Amino acid sequence: MDLKQIYNSKIKSGDEAVKFIKSGNRVVIAHAVGEPVYVVDKMVEHHKDYKDVEIVQLVPMGHSLYAKEEMKEHFRLNAFFLGGNTRNAVYEGRGDFTPCFFYQIPQLFRTSLPIDVALVTVSPPDENGFCSFGTSCDYTKPAAEAAKLVIAQVNKKMPRTLGDGFIHINDIDVIVEHDEQVPELPNPKITDVEMKIGENCAKLINDGDTLQLGIGAIPDAVLKFLTHKKDLGIHSEMISDGVMELYEMGVINCKKKNLHKGKMVVAFLMGTQKLYEFVHDNPAISMMDIEYVNNPIVIGQNDNMVSVNSALQVDLMGQVCAEAMGLKQFSGIGGQVDFIRGAAFSKGGKSILAFPSTAKKGTISKIVPFLTEGSAVTTSRTDVDYIVTEHGIAHLKGQTLKERARRLINIADPNFRDELIIEFAKRFKENF
Ligand code: COA
Repeated sequence: MDLKQIYNSKIKSGDEAVKFIKSGNRVVIAHAVGEPVYVVDKMVEHHKDYKDVEIVQLVPMGHSLYAKEEMKEHFRLNAFFLGGNTRNAVYEGRGDFTPCFFYQIPQLFRTSLPIDVALVTVSPPDENGFCSFGTSCDYTKPAAEAAKLVIAQVNKKMPRTLGDGFIHINDIDVIVEHDEQVPELPNPKITDVEMKIGENCAKLINDGDTLQLGIGAIPDAVLKFLTHKKDLGIHSEMISDGVMELYEMGVINCKKKNLHKGKMVVAFLMGTQKLYEFVHDNPAISMMDIEYVNNPIVIGQNDNMVSVNSALQVDLMGQVCAEAMGLKQFSGIGGQVDFIRGAAFSKGGKSILAFPSTAKKGTISKIVPFLTEGSAVTTSRTDVDYIVTEHGIAHLKGQTLKERARRLINIADPNFRDELIIEFAKRFKENF
């Protein structure tokens, strides 16, 4: 059979394709905007055919209808990260959460978390029969490699990205042709507080640095203060529109990187349609799997690696919670610790955790004497490096417990400093 015949022989309708999923199967859904939304929704439409299908996913960007209360007999969520549509499933006990460093997830798929079915989106095949995973190579490619069965939604709107994110049609079992808009993530609105945080973070970034930036308003605010910098590089689990804009301005050119000079190394991306058009067939972007991109030893091979991520709470010793509020799991670990450790391996590297000093309209301090009971420590006090708020920068690495507490209190919201100073005196038996 030639490639066209092989391809055609695998085409099924969405309804036919989801019949390959069986009760009790473990199904991995492609990450973030790589989700094959049409196929996943078809699976949920056929929920009566299944009992106890385990759904494994990191950032959910589709409809996540499998996580609804009425689906509990049919689907069980096993999440590596929670979002607005999946949080309740875990709060309400019909789903669970698995803590794991992002770069180690593919290893789980080959060992303790074997996969029955991978649901992925790909671009149409090229003349050699290779389809691109487009926006999500991350754990999506390793999941397709590890799964017993691969169901791929071939979507003409999925950009064809370069690098390692390809699968050959011989390795796909079932093809569903369905074109749909790749989910978009609108540019976040940036508040004055976030702008101030961005400005403070930018003070720690020098010409020639290689950056990792997480998602959301703070990374975007940081990028706004980098327009006058030169020769920045990108080695990041993800990118969004802000990085594209700095690349187009010539600020990001990756010329000073030690690894993959001239290329932005990325495991997944999400943003607006403009970003998806920018990355299509663009040799400036090298999509790689998460086992490579987020491996701290790989990250550390770039000199002057600077990572910028966010958090929910930090205690006076520098223990950081970025994923939970007490016993309530809010999001996940993602690549935060991978990059903090990677930056520590990097000559001249720095890792930054940046967040507003307060939450809930100024009523709660994020800098606290103790993490809320039940909260997980995402970044340990031994790994933490820089903490940044709108009130300044606290460099914690190498500092004593007393000095860490002092530095953190100095960047806390002024309305909460008195309470923190009382805690300081109790803990260290001396005045602040
Ligand atoms: N106590 C109570 N509520 C808090 C809080 C705290 N300490 N900190 C934040 N909140 C609330 C906020 O007020 C907000 O609620 P609202 O929407 O009702 O106002 C909500 O929690 C989200 O907070 P916000 O600061 O807007 O979060 P964010 O969208 O900037 O995300 C993280 C921050 C930490 C949750 C997110 O970056 C994350 O999940 N990180 C972990 C993984 C990671 O770093 N990966 C690497 C990059 S992908």
